[in-house]
Amino acid sequence: MDHRPIGVFDSGLGGLTAVRELRRLLPGEDIIYFGDTGRVPYGGRSPEAIVHYARQDVAFLRTFDLKAIVVACGTVSTTALDVLVRENDIPVWGVVEPAARAAARATRNGRVGLIGTQATIRSGAYERRIAREDPSIQVLTEACPLFVPLVENGRFRPGDIVAETVAAEYLAPMREAGVDTLVLGCTHYPLLTEVIGACMGPEVALINVGATCAAAVAERLRAMDALNPGGAGESRFYVSDSVEGFSRLASTFLQRDVQEAVTQVDIWAYPSEPPALANQPDLG
Ligand code: DGL
Repeated sequence: MDHRPIGVFDSGLGGLTAVRELRRLLPGEDIIYFGDTGRVPYGGRSPEAIVHYARQDVAFLRTFDLKAIVVACGTVSTTALDVLVRENDIPVWGVVEPAARAAARATRNGRVGLIGTQATIRSGAYERRIAREDPSIQVLTEACPLFVPLVENGRFRPGDIVAETVAAEYLAPMREAGVDTLVLGCTHYPLLTEVIGACMGPEVALINVGATCAAAVAERLRAMDALNPGGAGESRFYVSDSVEGFSRLASTFLQRDVQEAVTQVDIWAYPSEPPALANQPDLG
């Protein structure tokens, strides 16, 4: 048994789709969530900038005594996870491995589609991980940079002509290629499930990376005997931009009324060097 909270972070509020599922699966766990709302989106940035931001996000979360960190961001998981794992002495889990496993299991025709941010697509992380499951699976990829701003602006509901037009254009190559499984490789995308599902058709399995990651976290904590079954299940939210409007947007992602307080954090004040080096004297 481990009473410490789980730290979860994302470039913005998309990671709340993973928190929602964590809450459902592990109602006793306390969760500390950080959303880097002041610097979202990460997806168009260089790998160096993503690693820099991710280290600061983790440095903030590590001011709490955590049992594990969940990288509820496709972009950071595909681009900076190995760095974060190497530099931390608690488990750091990302979204790629569970989603790749789920996709390999779901496909019947061996054609899997992956949509995500530019950084996620550029990384090749899913192709490598899916090939380890089954090297015969073909992975077709498409960067969808307009999806995150659409979601963050509330433009994700069926009938929204902008969302439907953008989705139709991005997803046309996937439909033509006949993929039977589509990985929604960004934690913002589950809000577009209905729009994407209508475009792809009911026979295509959609993989929600936040939800598959949450299921893997539950499994791992159980295997480590590190659950907090009798816990209160509290959530604490931190963001790097103004807290105004947080509750409304967070309620959309969590699909419940958000009453909890949210605190603004000056994320630039946290170190972006590897933690082992952060406290060393400047030898100039
Ligand atoms: N939730 C992030 C991801 O999963 C959002 C994308 C971004 O910051 O560009 O990739």
